[in-house]
Amino acid sequence: MSILPPTVENIRLAGEAIRQGKLVVIPTETVYGLAADATNRQAVESIFNAKGRPQDNPLIVHIGESKWLEDLAVDVPEYARRLAGEFWPGPLTLVLPKLPHVLDEVTAGLDSVAVRMPNDEVAIRVIREANVPIAAPSANKFMAVSPTRVEHIDPEIERSVEMILDGGPCWYGVESTVIECLGDHPLLLRPGGLSRGKIEEVLGTPLNNADQNLKRSPGQYPKHYAPRTPVRLVARLGIDDAGITYHSPLNSNQVHMSASEPEKFARWLYNALHVLDERNVPEILIETPPETPEWEVIWDRLRKASSS
Ligand code: TXA
Ligand code: MG
Repeated sequence: MSILPPTVENIRLAGEAIRQGKLVVIPTETVYGLAADATNRQAVESIFNAKGRPQDNPLIVHIGESKWLEDLAVDVPEYARRLAGEFWPGPLTLVLPKLPHVLDEVTAGLDSVAVRMPNDEVAIRVIREANVPIAAPSANKFMAVSPTRVEHIDPEIERSVEMILDGGPCWYGVESTVIECLGDHPLLLRPGGLSRGKIEEVLGTPLNNADQNLKRSPGQYPKHYAPRTPVRLVARLGIDDAGITYHSPLNSNQVHMSASEPEKFARWLYNALHVLDERNVPEILIETPPETPEWEVIWDRLRKASSS
């Protein structure tokens, strides 16, 4: 395995490796993805092995052109077409009724498939080079924090892939927003890089949450996105605490973030968790962020990271 810059030649090699059924780590605008050919059963199985992820947890299929959707999904609702038209390429995943040939290994046996078209230039070029739809979960071990830079990638993941393409820090820093598009109205399955506000603007109606019911979106476990070190939310860090603060840091294990820029906070959150996790501190404390809607995705990830 090697960490390589995303040159034209390395992107070509990445596409070729994927076509040959191998795993490649690619940057996306949300988090790094562990990519394999979504039409190759064995390649998809190797994703689950590399992550230590249970088989009942379906994967997102990444496409290189909007028209590839027609090869994966049927009965695409009009509102889903509108959302794709507005936000693809970008951090939006649509769960749609699947065509029969989409592998059960990808969808965990569900009748639906999750699809997204990323807007990271390296990701798009690798997908087009491979010329197959690409299954890619976040490139972390099961339940761990997603990598937003190559330095965060677990050595076990490194060992199981053909190559890692280094695209630098991910722009959004949190995973895509996942929307179920199976009924008359869309339902939010997972908040993510694309805010509810932007989606509601296009829909012209409020976006309801799906039931927090594991059957509906397998893989949405209460504890998830968690570092090895326990995480706890607090009002204010003390002089000896390690963690994330909105005030002046009181020691070198305190990371300063802004309480007025939720997008920036999201971009740096996983990096802060990865860095603090390496410091051998007993606990990571995070000052509670504002309660306003723009902080929804951050609250979701903080709740999961701090759930025991
Ligand atoms: O930003 C992202 O979405 C990243 C990058 C690499 O694209 N990928 C990612 O994948 O976060 P993963 O596997 O960590 O999360 C996929 C989520 C899970 O919560 C899973 O339950 C949901 O998508 N999902 C996938 N297929 C589904 C389906 N058919 N029905 C309901 N939920 C589904
Ligand atoms: Mg994940």
